[in-house]
Amino acid sequence: MRNPFLIGERIYLRPLEEEDLDCCMRWINDPEILTTLGRRFPMSRALEREWITSQYKSEKDLSLAIVIKDGDLHIGNCGLHQIDYVNRNAEFGIMIGGKDNWGHGYAPEAAKLILGYGFDELNLHRISLEVYSQNKRAQRAYEKAGFTHEGTKREAYFRNGRYYDNLIMGILRSEWRKDGTSSLE
Ligand SMILES: CC(C)(COP(=O)(O)OP(=O)(O)OC[C@H]1O[C@@H](n2cnc3c(N)ncnc32)[C@H](O)[C@@H]1OP(=O)(O)O)[C@@H](O)C(=O)NCCC(=O)NCCS
Repeated sequence: MRNPFLIGERIYLRPLEEEDLDCCMRWINDPEILTTLGRRFPMSRALEREWITSQYKSEKDLSLAIVIKDGDLHIGNCGLHQIDYVNRNAEFGIMIGGKDNWGHGYAPEAAKLILGYGFDELNLHRISLEVYSQNKRAQRAYEKAGFTHEGTKREAYFRNGRYYDNLIMGILRSEWRKDGTSSLE
């Protein structure tokens, strides 16, 4: 493991580095991934570099690379964003870039590590996200991590010439505790 920050069973999370730029750009410019992240413009190398740098300068963002321990393979990124230290909440985001790595439960494992860090170390009260209604794969992955569906933003997302709903999903610290899971155990 290189520079691990949070360590799980099969994966670990580490800081993003300059050398991750090429992978990140390839993943994010895949149209299927780009739109699910709510981004509409392609990402240039310069912008991606700026984004990685901005993440480490910001106290409102914690962005990490997801790496499979076996083979030290970087498969995606995840993080907490818009961290609000007054209301103690944050937004969760994730992307598994290599599609061969979809469906192996890596996203829920990464999400649980970040949730544990958010609740146990950053003392957050609530972590939430928004997901496009057709992105069933993501919804299922989030449910497995402990998020529940809290509400629906009707026709908030435009794609392929029509509007779709966005779902709001969230998890409270009390629900995380009830689940009995912690990245720090
Ligand atoms: C969404 C994403 C993070 C999920 O990661 P993952 O590691 O593949 O997640 P999982 O391994 O838990 O697999 C997803 C689950 O959804 C299920 N699933 C897949 N397609 C589905 C569908 N069309 N309907 C319902 N469930 C579906 C899978 O069967 C699996 O559930 P199971 O373990 O109970 O069988 C990953 O696919 C990704 O990065 N996609 C592109 C970016 C993105 O969508 N990010 C989220 C933006 S909100």
